[in-house]
Amino acid sequence: MEYFEIHGGVPLEGEIKVFAAKNSVLPMMAAAILAQSGTTRINNVPDIADVRTMSEVLRRLGAEIEFDRQNNVLWINTENIRSYEAPYDLVSRMRASFLVMGPLLARFGTARVSQPGGCAIGARPVDQHIKGFARLGAKVTEEGGYTVARAKKLIGNTVVFDRPTHTGTENIMMSAVLAEGRTEIINAAQDPEIVDLAKMLNKMGAKIRGAGTSIITIDGVDTLRAVEHTPIGDRLEAGTYLFGAIATGGRVKVKNVSPASLRTVLCKMMDMGAEVTTGRNYVAVQMRGRPRAVDIITDPFPGFPTDLQPMIMAALTIAEGTSVIWERIFENRFIHVMELQRLGANITISGDRATVVGVENLDGATVMASDIRAGAGLVIAGLAARGKTVVKRVYHIDRGYQRLEERLRLLGASIERYDEN
Ligand code: EPZ
Repeated sequence: MEYFEIHGGVPLEGEIKVFAAKNSVLPMMAAAILAQSGTTRINNVPDIADVRTMSEVLRRLGAEIEFDRQNNVLWINTENIRSYEAPYDLVSRMRASFLVMGPLLARFGTARVSQPGGCAIGARPVDQHIKGFARLGAKVTEEGGYTVARAKKLIGNTVVFDRPTHTGTENIMMSAVLAEGRTEIINAAQDPEIVDLAKMLNKMGAKIRGAGTSIITIDGVDTLRAVEHTPIGDRLEAGTYLFGAIATGGRVKVKNVSPASLRTVLCKMMDMGAEVTTGRNYVAVQMRGRPRAVDIITDPFPGFPTDLQPMIMAALTIAEGTSVIWERIFENRFIHVMELQRLGANITISGDRATVVGVENLDGATVMASDIRAGAGLVIAGLAARGKTVVKRVYHIDRGYQRLEERLRLLGASIERYDEN
């Protein structure tokens, strides 16, 4: 297995351009299923494991996929789809594969997708997705670890989520676009990636209004066509570099990201004492000295994103003062805490709250990544720590970041990838 070796204490300095948002690209790949003809083109796509997994899911359905690695362009043709099943071995590798359920149901009236199961950060049920499909008239059953949905024709209806769900909103949106009549999604997730997906679906011929608010209205149409789309920049990749600058007392400018997609995060960075400057599609952060402690509550967008919780925690371990982080989205998203403690962080957990007492310095150690964002948080901590840090199981990080070590070296970091054997 591969690991990163980091020599910390070097401030991150420089400019970097982020790729398209992973959490835009994955639903857009599923949305390509909705195009009855033509080839979908998605630009600036990162070369990451999750994109390769979703490509494999679509190939198993019968789609043709090409990825131009030089130019990060993805081509998808779904004219010859002849299977409607997303198998266990792929869905268990990436739960976002469940996003093919809505498009398969909408276009073919049938879908059989392995239940995603939990992951390191929580149980992550899909009950809200299933309730939504049923509200649109689908018959949904569980058969041998698979969720099977059937519908001669989906009929528009009102779908109310008990709580905002990011991919649940996307799955229902992608099934309602070909349903008969009007669908209203109440208590929809408002993430920028959902607005981005709605833009692409409308380009394909859909009639969606209200994406980005808690009520989304979709008027069903008969067919959708393949289009070209350039997704928004990845606010989570951007946040990773920005918190890296804060944790190392550096100065970083991230391009191709909208400040509006990070507004809550940028406010917290300023509370930590960072100088933040923004433009139409860039954010720059400069940190002089130690950050100040701040309290964090993770919440659905526009609240503080749970996906940046491990990164801000890494920066807060060396802050002046005590911070309380309340993780309200996932029930088990503190696995990185034990690893940060190995670096000398002073953190105590009680239930869904972590109390971080800032220390002067972290000291390098060997730590282990448990999921994409925990891994990225540990890399940030290693960049800030004195001496050598080894981050093991970087395959978790490779799911969401294209060669993170090469990108961080562009910003002056001392980080190398090695293979254990
Ligand atoms: C999306 O996951 C993202 N993944 C996650 O990013 C992100 O952490 C999460 O949203 C929260 O922002 C993609 O977009 C591919 P949810 P998703 O449904 O849609 C509960 C990353 O690092 N829930 O918004 O699965 C759920 O358990 C990944 O890129 C139900 O109870 O998250 C959680 O507590 C990690 N029933 C809360 O809602 C459901 O049917 C929010 O989950 C669905 C969700």
